[in-house]
Amino acid sequence: MAEREPIGVVGVGWVGLCTAACFAELGHHVYARDIVAEKVAALGRGEVPMHEPGLPELLARNAERLHFTTEMGEVLDNARLLFVCVDTPPTYSGDADLSRVEAVVAELGDSEDHAIVMKSTVPVGTGRAIQRRRERLGYVSNPEFLKEGSAVDDFMRPDRVVVGAGEHSDGFAGRVAALYEPLDAPIVRTDVASAEMIKLASNAFLATKISFINEIANVSEELGADVNEVARGMGLDERIGDKFLKAGLGFGGSCFPKDVSALKQLAGNSGYHFQLLNSVIEVNDLQKRRAIGKLQKHLGSLVNREIALLGVAFKPHTDDIREATALVLAARLQSEGAHVRVFDPVALENAEELLGGARIAGTALDALDGADAAVLVTEWPEFAELDWAGEVRGRMAQPVVVDGRNFLDREALEAAGFTYEGIGR
Ligand code: UDX
Repeated sequence: MAEREPIGVVGVGWVGLCTAACFAELGHHVYARDIVAEKVAALGRGEVPMHEPGLPELLARNAERLHFTTEMGEVLDNARLLFVCVDTPPTYSGDADLSRVEAVVAELGDSEDHAIVMKSTVPVGTGRAIQRRRERLGYVSNPEFLKEGSAVDDFMRPDRVVVGAGEHSDGFAGRVAALYEPLDAPIVRTDVASAEMIKLASNAFLATKISFINEIANVSEELGADVNEVARGMGLDERIGDKFLKAGLGFGGSCFPKDVSALKQLAGNSGYHFQLLNSVIEVNDLQKRRAIGKLQKHLGSLVNREIALLGVAFKPHTDDIREATALVLAARLQSEGAHVRVFDPVALENAEELLGGARIAGTALDALDGADAAVLVTEWPEFAELDWAGEVRGRMAQPVVVDGRNFLDREALEAAGFTYEGIGR
């Protein structure tokens, strides 16, 4: 087998680590650099600082090809393609904060042997601006489409790979595209600005799909339709597709809220008012609070009520709590005078300080013990496996369940005497 091209990864957060591990699995030596020395040391010892299924195994299996370092020089000496995977969090105005990207660019110099391969999600136009300042350096946009909880699988079996580059970087773009050839996915070769836009537009479209189905859910409740049935019927139309049509308590996470705001801001800065995205954001904000009204419907005032929140992570199979619905709900419930207890299988460690005065329970049953109502916020499989009809029913003070993800067995709960409230049914 021909020697595989060594890869540089700059920024070993969640995207960087998944990218490094997956390229190592494909047979590349990977030189991954982070400025946080403790993180690099921990990775060197084989510790995995985040919860991502399959990732620890991949890192262990490919340990000899993975070189974690704090030194940019080591990366530049060993690799020519430098995958930039630093985060671009939102600023107060909703714009993307590019300071970490800029710090990396400042360190890279201007060697024509090296290319920046931008995986971080950046505003459209960022690549062009960087290229103007670094004329010799190659520049390729290669956005990531990884979902937390299934990132390894998403990397290895992508729907598409996007590789954007100008003429000047055509050779580098070919080398980047070649890295993905073993994955047998369509490769979209395009210009840098279009590649940047593909990423933002894809996330904004998926977020729009979720806000759309959430509004259909809310109207369905009023009109007596069941949003699960509606989504099933809609999803069979190939033009619509059945993915991302699950109604719930809104989208969270590190990408959708940030990318929708970033695209809206970007449009605004260019003089275009992106009307639709304002609504997507507003619907999502309201949806996160929707459980409150449902609780009030059954409990009246929430003052001194004991409310159990099941799930804190913004979705199952991750310990990420960024923009998580549970944080919004906990704050709101407490401002209504309720006492909140929360449980999550993996995300509690990160959550404690953000949950205000909420009590962190040791188990789901502990959270439900004596509760006046339970809100299922995150659809962790183990919540469906609880003995709702027996043990849970016996422990709760009042059998009221708000199923914020339409995840539990409604008929079984109702048969067991629960008052069940789903979303859009
Ligand atoms: C997302 C994109 O899917 C990924 O391509 C991008 O690179 C990063 O952002 P992620 O944030 O990990 O990935 O989560 P995802 O599984 O897409 O879910 C996002 C949010 O939408 C979650 O809060 C989830 O609960 C919610 N969601 C998703 C719904 O409410 N309904 C759905 O039908 C799907």
